[in-house]
Amino acid sequence: MYRTHTCGALRMEHVGNRVTLTGWVQRIRELGGMTFITLRDRYGITQLVFDEHAPKAVTDLLPELGREFIIRVSGQVRERSSKNPAMPTGDIEVSPDEMEVVNRSELPPFLIENETDGGEELRMRYRYLDLRRQVLRDNMMLRHRMAQEIRTYLDQHAFVEVETPFLIKSTPEGARDFVVPSRMNPGEFYALPQSPQTFKQLLMIGGYDRYFQIVRCFRDEDLRADRQPEFTQLDCEMAFVDQEDVLNTFEGLAKHLFQVVAHYDYQDRFPRITYDDAIGLYGTDKPDLRFGMKIADITREVQGQGFKVFDQAEYIGGICAQGCADYSRKQLDQLTEFVQRPQVGAKGLVYVKYNSDGSFKSSVDKFFDPDRFQQWARLMNAQPGDLMLILAGAREQTLSALGMLRLEMGSRLGLRDPEKFAPAWIVDFPLFEWDPDQQRYTAMHHPFTSPKDEDVGLIDKDPANMRANAYDFVINGVEIGGGSVRIHTREMQEKMFEALGISKSEAQEQFGFLLNAFRYGAPPHGGIAFGFDRWCAVMGGSDSIRDYIAFPKNNAGRDLMINSPAPISKEQLRELQIKLANGSDTG
Ligand code: AMO
Repeated sequence: MYRTHTCGALRMEHVGNRVTLTGWVQRIRELGGMTFITLRDRYGITQLVFDEHAPKAVTDLLPELGREFIIRVSGQVRERSSKNPAMPTGDIEVSPDEMEVVNRSELPPFLIENETDGGEELRMRYRYLDLRRQVLRDNMMLRHRMAQEIRTYLDQHAFVEVETPFLIKSTPEGARDFVVPSRMNPGEFYALPQSPQTFKQLLMIGGYDRYFQIVRCFRDEDLRADRQPEFTQLDCEMAFVDQEDVLNTFEGLAKHLFQVVAHYDYQDRFPRITYDDAIGLYGTDKPDLRFGMKIADITREVQGQGFKVFDQAEYIGGICAQGCADYSRKQLDQLTEFVQRPQVGAKGLVYVKYNSDGSFKSSVDKFFDPDRFQQWARLMNAQPGDLMLILAGAREQTLSALGMLRLEMGSRLGLRDPEKFAPAWIVDFPLFEWDPDQQRYTAMHHPFTSPKDEDVGLIDKDPANMRANAYDFVINGVEIGGGSVRIHTREMQEKMFEALGISKSEAQEQFGFLLNAFRYGAPPHGGIAFGFDRWCAVMGGSDSIRDYIAFPKNNAGRDLMINSPAPISKEQLRELQIKLANGSDTG
C-alpha cells in the first residue's frame, strides 16, 4: 500500500496512529541533530521528523535523499512541540520508522515553491514541475471547480451539453484561421473553429433549445497576457429568447460562480451600461467598475479662452484623482510620459492641482483664472486636495487615452482590489464598424448578430448608426464574454451579408448551409460565449490566463515543452501534396 492518508490529511485527532504516506520531498533541513523533511502531494504538505529514535535503516537512507525524490514512509503521528498555524497539518508531524525511496529525482531546474527562482520560459519548458507548485495547483483546482459548477448549474437550467466538430470551415470571428490539410482531399483544407458559432445556431434550428459546451477555440492572432492561440470558451445558445432572457440567465450563473468559487456575495442586479456611455465615461467598452473616477467631457467649458491646444481639439476631457494634489513634479512627469506612450497616444497632459487651501496650481495657469478652474472642478467632481488630469485631441483617441490614464491612476491609488469583483453588462453595441483599410463596414460582433428592431430601416441609408442586439460581459475591466440575439430569417441574413460587402455567391459558398437551414423554421435565438480561461483568471485575481491553463503557449505561440510548432517530414508533406514556398520539401 502506498498510503493510508494524503499529505494534507493529518490532524490532532490522528496523533498516536501509525500511518503511511507517499509524496515528493519538498525540503530537507537539519537542526540540532534532527532531520526534518517536508513531504508534498496534491493535497498538502506534512512534516516528517527523524530524531535519535529513528531506526538506523531509515537514517542511513537520509543522505541519499534530495529534492523531488518520491519516498514512502510509515510511522507514528505525533503532536508537534512548535506548531505551525499557517499549515493545515501544522499541529502534527510524522516520525517514520520505515522509509523507502520510490523514485529518485535529478535536481530540478528551479525551486518548486510558490516563490520560485525560475523565470517563465524555464518553467514553461518544465511545466510538469511548475504544475507541482501550490499556486498553480490552486489555479487548476479553481478552474476545475468553475467547470463543475457551470455544468451542474446549466444542467439544472435545462441546458444540454453538445460537442461540435473541430475540423470545419472558416468561421467569421474576425481572426485568422488555423488550417489543417486534408490527405484524403488533396489541395483542400479544414479550418479549426474560432468558435462554434454557426453550429450552435444550427443546434437551435435542430430544436435543442438550450445548448452549452466548454470548448476549445482556435485563433491565429497576436498574443497577449489575456490571449492564447487555443483557448476555451463556455459557449451557450438559447431559442425563443430575447436579450433580457439571455442576460438574466447568465447573470444567474455568474452570481452562482461568485458565490461558490470566490465566496463573494453579489446580490444586486449587474449594472447595464450602453456602449456609448461606457466609451464616454470610461474611455473603453470594458470598464473597470471597481472604482469611479468617471471621465468628464469639458470641451464646451474650456474652449474659447485663447489656449490653442484646447481650441483646436475636437474633444477635451478629464478625470479627478482624489487626494493627489500633492503630486511632485517627478510624479506629474511620469504621468505625462505615460500618456505619451505610443499605445496610449496622447500628445501631452494638462494638470490642475486643487490645493487643500482652495487655491489652484496648473500647467495652464497663463490661460485660465481660478473661477474657470472652479468650474472644471465642479464638472469633474474635484474637491480641495484632488488632482485634475486633462487630455485634448480627437474624440475617440482622447477618450481611449483617458481610459488608460484612469486605469493607471486606479492602480497607483490601489483602487483595483483583486479581492473585489465588479461585473457589468455592456449593451447596445453598434452593429457595424468602419474598416479604413478595407474601405468597408465589418460586423462589430459577427455577421449573425441582429440589429435593433427600430434600426432595421437604417441598413441602406445610415448603417453607421445602427445598433445591435449585442452585449458583452465584463468583470474588473476584462471582457469575459460576448454574445447577441441572432438573425433568424434568410432575408435579413442576406441583407446583412450585402451590407458587409459579401456577394450573394460568396455568402452562398461560405454560409450556404446556414442560409438553407433558415428556410426550415428557424426559431428566434440568441446566446453568448465566455472566455473560460479569462473568467478563471479574474476569479483568481490574476491578469494572466497562462497561469490558469495547464499547458499554455508562450507569446510567440510556441509550446516550449514539446517544442511545437515543428517541421514535418518529407513523407508527410508528400502525402499531403504540399510543397513549401521556400522550395524545400521538408520543413
Ligand atoms: P468572442 O469573439 O467575443 O465571441 O469571444 C468570446 C470570448 O472569448 C474570449 N476570447 C479569448 N480568450 C483567450 N484567448 C483568445 N485569443 C480569445 N479570444 C476571445 C473573450 C471573449 O469575450 N461566437 C461568439 C460568441 C457569441 O456570439 O455567442 C464569440 O466567439 O473572453
